[in-house]
Amino acid sequence: MKPIKIGVLGLGTVGGGTVNVLTRNAMEITRRAGREIIITRASARSVDKQRICATHAIELTTNSLEIINDPEIDIIVELIGGAGVVKELVLAAIDNGKHVVTANKLLIAQHGNEIFARASEKGVIVAFEAAVAGGIPIIKALREGLSGNQIEWLAGIINGTSNFILTEMRDKGRDFADVLTEAQALGYAEADPTFDIQGIDAAHKLTILAAIAFGIPLQFDKVYTEGIANITRLDIQYAEELGYRIKHLGIARKSAQGIELRVHPTLIPQHRLIANVNGVMNAVVVKGDAVGPTLYYGAGAGAEPTASAVVADIIDVVRALTSDPDNRVPHLGFQANALADIPVLSCQHFSTAYYLRLTAEDKPGVLADVTGILADHNISIEAIIQKEPLQGETSIPIIMLTQITFEQEMTAAIAKIEALLTVTGKINHIRMETLG
Ligand code: HSE
Repeated sequence: MKPIKIGVLGLGTVGGGTVNVLTRNAMEITRRAGREIIITRASARSVDKQRICATHAIELTTNSLEIINDPEIDIIVELIGGAGVVKELVLAAIDNGKHVVTANKLLIAQHGNEIFARASEKGVIVAFEAAVAGGIPIIKALREGLSGNQIEWLAGIINGTSNFILTEMRDKGRDFADVLTEAQALGYAEADPTFDIQGIDAAHKLTILAAIAFGIPLQFDKVYTEGIANITRLDIQYAEELGYRIKHLGIARKSAQGIELRVHPTLIPQHRLIANVNGVMNAVVVKGDAVGPTLYYGAGAGAEPTASAVVADIIDVVRALTSDPDNRVPHLGFQANALADIPVLSCQHFSTAYYLRLTAEDKPGVLADVTGILADHNISIEAIIQKEPLQGETSIPIIMLTQITFEQEMTAAIAKIEALLTVTGKINHIRMETLG
């Protein structure tokens, strides 16, 4: 049979990894796919990538459209990232009847509904396993392995950079900025690292996971998103004293009221497996009604781990080339005309337990004022630590864990506590999840 010809758009970290994995494992891949798969063309911003292309006999161009318009190319692998022109390139590839494999989470989370509709019209596949959690086959697990379940919730460490920073801050007492620079040098962080730090990258990934878990359209703009910038070493230390670890989680939960989509730092009990996922590693817990909780763990970023997912998608596309387009695994796992219109809840409707850290004057009655406000809002305290004042200081840190409460009650209580004359500055509040 004729080999399948691939055109790769973008020869950055993941592009280079994909070339290496596809060529190194070519024989094994052919045995799996039933056809030889070769990269014949690639595009890059500059011709500096000539070496990798020359080694593997790949024709290099700076113009991606040449590849998209090449009738010899069967599959376009988009590894440029971002939207804008890239979205136009992907739509043009689809219009040319080419299958697309992409690692682009922003593109899928923000424009996936339109892209999948166009792909279905044209009878082509858009595969995007590498867009979420790097090398972990979480999309395949949700879309196929767990397709007999009703998914109740999922929670994941889905931004390796944030997890790397939190781990280094906890284990080595390193500074935030210093660890971020290292994550960038190692190729984990996004081109714009604010996407990692502000939780946007994780929100893109959660959007995709939730759509596949619950059979809903992709709704990135409805994800409540907080990053790790406000987490201090003190919070990490106090959380440890209380038996918890702070992780940056993406959480999607379905209830009778609707769906919660949220990304934020979270205290989780130290004994949970996911609390012990460190460094750049990712992990996702998925709770299905039939299977119970399941855990998926692996490298969430990096050249070859991400290439592992890209290449698996290429093989999947090759295997599906002769299948009837109407009977392929749907892009979001549910038939496109059967997506549900379930409301996504606003953050005021979330209910979680909380960690609170405030700084207050060390004098009688202060704690009573604080606990009185919490009681007025029906917020019950689970644990409390009051530290000695630091030498030469008159204020003290007070750390509290609360029981589960409605977000709107907590927001109102925090505003009242911050307004007390005896309380200084902002209250650092972090949501807690038992993930039981
Ligand atoms: N910047 C991402 C992360 C890369 O840190 O997880 C993988 O999507």
